Order: sequence, then C-alpha cells, then structure tokens
Amino acid sequence: MELFDRLQRQELERAVLVHVDFQNEADREELDEFYELVDSAGAEICTLLTTKRHHPDPKYFVGKGKAEEIKQSVSAYEADVVIINHALSPAQERNISELTGCQVLDRVGLILDIFAQRARSHEGKLQVELAQLKRMATRLVKGWTHLDRQGGIGARGPGETQLETDRRLVQGRIKQLEAKIEKVRKQRDLGRRSRKRSELPTITIVGYTNAGKSTLFNHMTAAGVYAEDRLFATLDSTLRRVHLPGAGPVIFADTVGFIRHIPHDLVTAFRSTLEETSEASLLIHLVDSADIHREEKIADVYEVIEEVGATDVPQLVVFNKIDLLEPAVEPKIDYDDNGVAQRVWVSAQNDLGIELLMDAVGSFFKGIYHEVELVLDVTAGKKRAQLYELGTILYEGFDESGNSLFTMKLTDHEWQMIKAWPELIRAKLIE
Ligand code: GTP
Repeated sequence: MELFDRLQRQELERAVLVHVDFQNEADREELDEFYELVDSAGAEICTLLTTKRHHPDPKYFVGKGKAEEIKQSVSAYEADVVIINHALSPAQERNISELTGCQVLDRVGLILDIFAQRARSHEGKLQVELAQLKRMATRLVKGWTHLDRQGGIGARGPGETQLETDRRLVQGRIKQLEAKIEKVRKQRDLGRRSRKRSELPTITIVGYTNAGKSTLFNHMTAAGVYAEDRLFATLDSTLRRVHLPGAGPVIFADTVGFIRHIPHDLVTAFRSTLEETSEASLLIHLVDSADIHREEKIADVYEVIEEVGATDVPQLVVFNKIDLLEPAVEPKIDYDDNGVAQRVWVSAQNDLGIELLMDAVGSFFKGIYHEVELVLDVTAGKKRAQLYELGTILYEGFDESGNSLFTMKLTDHEWQMIKAWPELIRAKLIE
C-alpha cells in the first residue's frame, strides 16, 4: 500500500464539482446521485459548476470557457480537488489538472475511491486496489509532476527516472495482487464446494448501493438463534450461518452494492463475488423505498442480476427505510395470488418488520427439511457432537439406559447420511 498511498491516496477535501447536462440520454448522469457519491467519498463541496453540451470537448471535456471557470473556482475556494461527474480520458484529466494546478477525479475515480473505503472482504479490498492500480498505470505519463517531485522510494536503478521506477513498481504490484487474488479465489471455491456438500441454502442480499444491505444483514443474522461462522472461517466475512425459525440452518450472504455505469475494471473484478449470486437459493433484492429514483435503481439491479446469470434464482423484493416514507407505511408482506410472499416492507435500521421478513424467508424454505426422531447409543459421544454440528435440534433427552433421544430438523442430504449410522438404535421420519 505504500506506493499506492504515495501516488494516489490524497485526502479528498475541499471539492469543486463539475456536472455536464448532456442532451443525449446515453451520456446523461444524475445530479443528485453525484451529490450522494461525493458525500459518500467524504468530500466537502465548495461549489457546483454546470454546463450544457452535445459532446465532450477532446481537450478539457468541457469547453475552454468553462475550464477557465473551474480554474477560477479552484483558486477562489482554495479547493484541493475537482470532481467531474463523467468518465474522462487520461489526457482530459491531465489537461484540467495542469490548467487548475489541482487534483482531478472523474466519476470512475470517484466510485473507485468509495469502493476502496467500503470494500469489506479481503478479496474485495485486493480487487479494488488492483482496479485502481490498473487505472493508474494508464495515467502514469510524463508531466505528472507530483510523481517526479518526490524521489527515493524502493530500489531505484541507475539512470532510471522516477516515472520509470513508478511504472515498474506499479506493474510489479499488479502482478503480486493478481497472484494473491487467484489464491483467495481458489480458497473461496473450496469453501463454496464444502457449502454445497452440506447443502445449506444460501440467501443472498443484493441491491443498489446505500439501500441498507449491511444494516439488514446485521439485523437478520443477529436475529437468528445462533450464528456459527467457524465452518466458513476461510471465506468472505460477509457470509454468516444462521438458524432460521421454521427452516433450519441457512447461510446469509451480503454483497457489494450496485452502481450505474460501474467502472469496467471493477465489473470484471467483482464478477467473481457476484457470480455466487447465481448459486443462491433465494435473492433478497433490497430497495431504498424512499429513494425518488427507486424504480430506475430496481431496473439497474435487475440488469446486473441478468449479467451474472442469476435470473432463475427466486427473488423477494424488500422495501427498506419505510420510516422515511410519507404517508407512513407499516411493516407488511404483499402476497401474490398463490399466497407466495412477493414484497416485504421493513426498516432495517429501526428493526421494523425484521420478524416478518424472517417469516417470509422461512416459509420459502419450508418443505425442504425433514423432522426426524433419533435414538443414539449411549457410547456414541462423537456422533452426538456431530449431530449438534449438523441440523437443528428441537429436543434432546435420554432414555433409562442413557441413550440420547433427539428430535431434529435435517435436510434430505443429512437425513440420508445419518440414517445409515450403525450407532443409531432408531431413526424415524416424522414429516
Ligand atoms: P453499500 O455498502 O454502499 O452497498 O450500502 P448498503 O446497501 O450496505 O447500505 P448500508 O447498510 O451501509 O446503509 C446505508 C445507509 O442507510 C446507512 O446510513 C444506514 O444507516 C441507512 N439505513 C439503513 N436502513 C435504514 C432504514 O431502515 N431507515 C433509514 N432511515 N436509514 C437506513
């Protein structure tokens, strides 16, 4: 991180924002989303400059007059950074930087910066750093005086300029990161396989950034009777095993938030995380119900679900943040004509409707578990411990000889495996 820190991670502080109102739909960006992104990145907004254009200008992205205005604003507000709500070419970014004497961040850089702050898992962090470095590699060119200014990091070869040293170090770090990611990916595949073996259903929470996924994840997993992480210790920290009332043990998975026009590198980098979505048993599609753009964002999320091949996975749409709705909406479940839950209204932060949601999710999994009665020989201590690790124990007692009596919930797979144990005196299916 040292190299990376020196090159790019300057604190975003006082920012001049630039937004271009494009006539053509494909280039348009939302202004209020821009504010949200800037706010998420933690910048202080000095001023917003807007302009209308048909096409970007090749030199400054905006016209010469507007570029001069940016320069004046930077100096008047003593700004540290110019943030532009669109993707710029390296040359455009550099030209504005040279004109204003100030750091320039375009929309892609801004999103990457937010991802860098938010990446939760080890793999996510590596992927964001890789995407940032790859982007930086295309922007390391002569004229980046702030790179030339400082010297003396790493082993600098004789006659090598700072620029060449930086290029070499960036490429080296990219290779290193790629190797690390490969290793983590292999580990994750192993984890995924062991999860498949145990056939625990996975419920994956997806949704637009800021919908409240992590808040919901924490509330739902805390609401479970027990949360056992041990089995998945090598996996992403955003997976948690939970006992779902009426359904038994399941895995909850939190995912990275979706954003429109996500940087291409990041889409590739995050595909592996999102690919797991297609293996989920159920998707909780979380929506910020109070967002004025909620319908567009729902459509954006559907698009990503399609991209990662998860359209066949059943979905439960959950409208979050009902506390912000006017008129007020109580926590509730909307059912379709067949009595299947379609939409649940909750406030994750205020713990409103979480029980309802747990019920809706639980009812989705009803029927895939068997309730069984087992009598285990008194000497089979190891097997008894194994039962505790496996399914859900509804009752445990002893008969007069000291044999254990269990009533349990098991998946079909677990039942098939357990009923063949020689240590069992009796094994009976109740339902
Ligand atoms: P990303 O990590 O960007 O994908 O966001 P996320 O979807 O995981 O959202 P997160 O849980 O971080 O919540 C985003 C913001 O919404 C936080 O400030 C939460 O406190 C807030 N939030 C979550 N649930 C509710 C809610 O029910 N009501 C209100 N008013 N705010 C909420």
